[in-house]
Amino acid sequence: MRIVVLGATGRMGGYLVPWLVEAGHQVITVSRGAEPLFRPHAAWKAVQHVSLDRAVEDAAGTLGARVRAMQPDVVIDNICYTLDSARHLVEALAGQVSHFLMCGTIWVHGPSSQVPTSEEQPRRPFGEYGIQKAAIEAYVLEQARRYGFPATVLHPGHIVGPGWAPLNPAGNFNLRVFRQLARGEELALPNLGLETVHHVHAEDVAQGFWLAMTQRSVALGESFHIVSPGALTLRGYAEAVAAWFGQPARLRFLPWDEWRKTVSEEDAQATWDHIAHSPHCSIRKAERLLGYHPRYTSLQAVYESVQWLIDHGKLEI
Ligand SMILES: NC(=O)c1ccc[n+]([C@@H]2O[C@H](COP(=O)([O-])OP(=O)(O)OC[C@H]3O[C@@H](n4cnc5c(N)ncnc54)[C@H](OP(=O)(O)O)[C@@H]3O)[C@@H](O)[C@H]2O)c1
Repeated sequence: MRIVVLGATGRMGGYLVPWLVEAGHQVITVSRGAEPLFRPHAAWKAVQHVSLDRAVEDAAGTLGARVRAMQPDVVIDNICYTLDSARHLVEALAGQVSHFLMCGTIWVHGPSSQVPTSEEQPRRPFGEYGIQKAAIEAYVLEQARRYGFPATVLHPGHIVGPGWAPLNPAGNFNLRVFRQLARGEELALPNLGLETVHHVHAEDVAQGFWLAMTQRSVALGESFHIVSPGALTLRGYAEAVAAWFGQPARLRFLPWDEWRKTVSEEDAQATWDHIAHSPHCSIRKAERLLGYHPRYTSLQAVYESVQWLIDHGKLEI
């Protein structure tokens, strides 16, 4: 098949694109830069690359025509963040493609209610990112159910892998948190440390896209969570990281308003965004319908990422 991947060179694409090439597909990668950002692989030599900036094409109203002109059988849209952009692309591709796979996020759910959260639960998104992603999901699935547009939406958790900083046990991206735990230093966590984060390895995200694409008939018109088998509490996550380095976790718990003063504004905002969602999503639907079996638990995925950071001199323990 001729497969166009929008936003191909990043975390998930670094795994998916080589799989698509190895399976014999013709792959057209689309992003601003041509180089894989995290995962070099010989397969990148076999793709056709188109450099474009989606923001520019969206503003000019030309993205849909450009993608349609690539004559794809399948489009994997990894970088859609607004309903307008989704609508424009879907209108351009209706009747032109056999499968359209869209990357969403588990943040379409807003705060958790009954956990593990299933795909069927009502959406209560907050924050512009989650609100737009939920609107995109509702729109493309409506196009699927009402008009037969061949869409599937995949919702990853916090994507982890070798090459970038994972979401840490304080719910932000500051690498100092891993250093503190590795050295047995005291770490303050907000509230009781019982809010949750739900990671997924980038390879497992690619697995989700691969399975949905290769099992088109069950995936059409559906959305799926693509996460690790279980979410982590901040506290449990911190204890596990300390244990990797042979340390006890010396944790201190502070009410949110006190805790936020102990970190930078940027870290506090990231932590707030994550703990206000406290995702804990079910993978039962993806297991049952697609045969999705994540290769990594959350801790295995984070361990690999942290080890990569240490090995590459990006995290001094
Ligand atoms: N990261 C997470 O933890 C996470 C969690 C849940 C859901 N998601 C979803 O996963 C998807 C991917 O997000 P990500 O952060 O993980 O990114 P990513 O896939 O690692 O990288 C983004 C890709 O898109 C390209 N790109 C970025 N801006 C572009 C533009 N304006 N025009 C054309 N290409 C562009 C990048 O290459 P260039 O920079 O060279 O253009 C790269 O290939 C998104 O839909 C996001 O909502 C991510």
